[in-house]
Amino acid sequence: MDTLTIRRPDDWHVHLRDGAMLQAVAPFTARQFARAIVMPNLVPPVTTAAAARAYRERIIAAAPGFTPLMTCYLTDAADPDDLAQGFADGVFTAAKLYPAGATTNSANGVTDLSRIYPVLERMQDIGMVLCVHGEVTDPDVDVFDREAVFIDRVLGPLLRDLPGLRVVFEHATTEQAVAFVEAAGDTVAATITPQHLHLNRNAMLVGGIRPHAYCLPVAKREQHRLALRRAATSGSPKFFLGTDSAPHTRETKEAACGCAGIFNAPYALESYLAVFEAEGALDRFEGFASEHGARFYGLPLNDGTVTLERVPTDVPAQIGAVVPFHAGETLAWRFVG
Ligand code: DOR
Ligand code: ZN
Repeated sequence: MDTLTIRRPDDWHVHLRDGAMLQAVAPFTARQFARAIVMPNLVPPVTTAAAARAYRERIIAAAPGFTPLMTCYLTDAADPDDLAQGFADGVFTAAKLYPAGATTNSANGVTDLSRIYPVLERMQDIGMVLCVHGEVTDPDVDVFDREAVFIDRVLGPLLRDLPGLRVVFEHATTEQAVAFVEAAGDTVAATITPQHLHLNRNAMLVGGIRPHAYCLPVAKREQHRLALRRAATSGSPKFFLGTDSAPHTRETKEAACGCAGIFNAPYALESYLAVFEAEGALDRFEGFASEHGARFYGLPLNDGTVTLERVPTDVPAQIGAVVPFHAGETLAWRFVG
């Protein structure tokens, strides 16, 4: 097979930033994807429906024809009424839970889930999806264990209290997350990034530290990467595409305290497709990229198709001020359009 045509896909987790960076990166996501769930961790974060409306307009101006699906950044002070009204008005598609301090621009996140139970109960009632950054922030928990501990201490209890809450476990990185999502009811799903399908922690740390392989949650041991590859290519409707493309300038990545985030938008489909091909699962790529996410969110599948062809694609060392995922590598497939 030398060409692959699939229904036009969506990206169920992306950071499009704002200002000049938005102008620079949004066209890459819009080129490959019809819609995307847009993360709200701007400075200041997108915490109100009014702020989300304005941000949505800026995104559409930067990428005409593209459909951004907005999320509300939950804080301890989140207002259930504004959230529910924004959802009813079609401004918010979902809300994002950042445990305070878990990652980039999460300082205003939730300090204790008990503080936002009224919000979560309302979301359960109205069927609004909660997108979860699944890591605890306790200083005594090792960074490589923070996802598994979050499942035990936070997500498990939450779903026992609110069993009808619709949850997307974002950027799953562990076999524990895969097992949790598989065992949960059909109200729980997960996104998987390209980098966590390609990289384990050795790829980031052996032979020198590679800041462009650093994101949060951080890549884990090989057994976890293999579990993610099995999940993504399994055909299960619980797992779908979410790039977590998160651009930072080269200078802020290659620094004494480098930022977390991998800019994978320009070659996202080529990157995922390399994994599906290696796993002998090209026939399952369309479900992962174009069907499972929309069905979980209760949205229509896209019209139209995109085609990839088996033509070597050289990934440049830098795109604008940002180093892309796979920089300097050659990928086997090329996005045609
Ligand atoms: O690596 C990451 N970068 N993980 C996140 O959760 C946030 C993101 C960002 O915004 O840069
Ligand atoms: Zn993210």
